[in-house]
Amino acid sequence: MDRIRITGGRKLNGSIPISGAKNATLPLMIASLLTDQVLVLENVPRLADVNLLQRILGNHGVDITVNGKRVGETQYDGQTLHINAGNIIDTTAPYELVSRMRASFWVIAPLVARMGQARVSMPGGCAIGTRPVDLLLMALSSLGAEIEIDRGYVIARAPDGLKGGTIAFPKVTVSGTHVAVMAASLARGSTVIENAAREPEIGDVADCLNKMGAKISGAGTSRIVIEGVPKLTGARHRVVPDRIETGTYAMAVAMTGGDVVLENARPELLQAAFDVLAHVGVEVTPTNAGVRVARNGSGIAPVEVTTSPFPGFPTDLQAQLMALMTRAKGTSRITETIFENRFMHVQELVRLGAHIALDGECATIEGVETLTGAPVMATDLRASVSLVIAALAAEGETMVHRVYHLDRGFERLEDKLSACGAAIERVSG
Ligand code: UD1
Repeated sequence: MDRIRITGGRKLNGSIPISGAKNATLPLMIASLLTDQVLVLENVPRLADVNLLQRILGNHGVDITVNGKRVGETQYDGQTLHINAGNIIDTTAPYELVSRMRASFWVIAPLVARMGQARVSMPGGCAIGTRPVDLLLMALSSLGAEIEIDRGYVIARAPDGLKGGTIAFPKVTVSGTHVAVMAASLARGSTVIENAAREPEIGDVADCLNKMGAKISGAGTSRIVIEGVPKLTGARHRVVPDRIETGTYAMAVAMTGGDVVLENARPELLQAAFDVLAHVGVEVTPTNAGVRVARNGSGIAPVEVTTSPFPGFPTDLQAQLMALMTRAKGTSRITETIFENRFMHVQELVRLGAHIALDGECATIEGVETLTGAPVMATDLRASVSLVIAALAAEGETMVHRVYHLDRGFERLEDKLSACGAAIERVSG
């Protein structure tokens, strides 16, 4: 298993290209199941989760080809996928695949909408809480799907097609909103989604679906209206930049000090996080190339932050912010409201010398002058990158184990950071 070795204490200077968003790419790839024509996705990041979803879609009979590198392309340019779900040979998504990536459960929506049936394994537990699928199933049954649970599998049936309806989510859910939008696109009649998630990735998928002939309005607001159409076509779509990767590198620069341009980043996608960084003492300046992030001289000011759905501070940046606050000049408080048990990084940060007390969903962090390198273990995607951020500022060497978590969501992290002066390398085996 690969590890990452980091020797802390170097400032970051230079530029980091931001990749396409993982959390948009996955639902976009799944949306390809809604049409028998070719969907072309550009700016797709090279990530383990994308490779795994290619295999999962392949199991349904989807054919995916990846464009070769063109003259002038750099290793950071995203891939272009040509996805052809013209011939769906199997509407079952088996446990062995779905259990490896929760988002693959979402295939249930396009499969039942287009094929009239789907049999998809329940995703099972995961490292950040129970993460149920009850609201996804509620959305599908609101559109007329019959749902049955049989030996760990959800069977959804709509032999005569789905019918538009009203879906009022009792809590904001990204997965529920994706599923509802995809399913309603091919339902008969109109659908209204109330209390929809407003995450930019929802808007990106809706933009792509509209290019495919869907009639979706209001994506990006909490009320989405969809006029169902009988058929969707192929389209070409460029994946939105990854706001979580953007925020992660911004926190890394905040941690080490220095001056970095995050190329292609779109600041409006993470205003809440940039507002927090401004409070911390970081300069954030939109530029033509993306966003410039700098911290020179000033210390790290403590903050009080509560995670919430978009446009609030994202749960996917909570661990990274906590890493930053371990060296703040004073006491910070971070409250996690989206996922239970999303504090797996705390014990590992403590191994590096952080002072953190946990009380339910609230973490209190007493900033320390010095962190010290140590062996640590990555536990989930965002937790593992928080350890990298802490290690960049720790004295001496940190070895991060189990980096396959990082590879799920961060493209060439060690290359991007070392190009800006960090002492970071992957150790194979
Ligand atoms: C997505 C993101 C993930 C991010 C999260 C919140 C992807 C691939 N993943 O996850 O990175 O951290 O949004 O921004 O886009 N819930 C239920 N019942 C359901 C569904 C969800 O109770 O049927 C709960 C969850 O347990 C959680 C909350 O709703 O407490 C939000 O979950 P949701 O927004 O659906 O997260 P994901 O889509 O799984």
